Amino acid sequence: MASGEGSNFEALVHACRNGDIPAEVVLLVVNRETCGALSRATRLEIPTLVLDHRAVASREELDRRIAASFQQRGVDLVVMAGWMRIVTEVLIGAYPERLINIHPSLLPSFRGARAIQQALDAQVRLSGCTAHLVELEVDTGPILVQAAVPVLETDSAETLSERIHQQEHRILPLAVQLAAERLGLLESNS
Ligand code: GAR
Repeated sequence: MASGEGSNFEALVHACRNGDIPAEVVLLVVNRETCGALSRATRLEIPTLVLDHRAVASREELDRRIAASFQQRGVDLVVMAGWMRIVTEVLIGAYPERLINIHPSLLPSFRGARAIQQALDAQVRLSGCTAHLVELEVDTGPILVQAAVPVLETDSAETLSERIHQQEHRILPLAVQLAAERLGLLESNS
């Protein structure tokens, strides 16, 4: 699931295709027809579904449609790779322990949609990213993997975001692997 550029989505597709994780990305759901993730999916030949949240009556109804589209395709794990909508019990309940989110901060610090700017405003010297299982309260839930990055005095939101993205692309496939192992979907390597 993606709302933005889709670089995390693409990193996951590559991790599957180059054998880092024995999985396949079978569907990308986006909520905006113009988002970069959609063109990446077309280039990568991944099926897509556009579900515009503005055309749906409620968050629950949006989540019902999303869950149904994944269930139809026999999806085991769902990843919110830059999904900028609040999800409800409908989706969380359809994929218990199987719904992963990536967030651009070291949770529990800086939850919400402005995490990078908040980290800059707070003048922290370390920030990073967190891949976690999704619970009802936004940006909470059991942490799967985190990575830290330095925050430089010269950083803008763009430069810090770029540094965090590099780590997100590394930890998101690890988080998928970990969640799948925990569920017994994969053989553990350890
Ligand atoms: C990522 O930095 C992700 O952590 C963030 O959106 C970006 C998407 O980038 N997600 C959130 O802020 C969710 N609260 P991408 O579209 O290039 O993958």
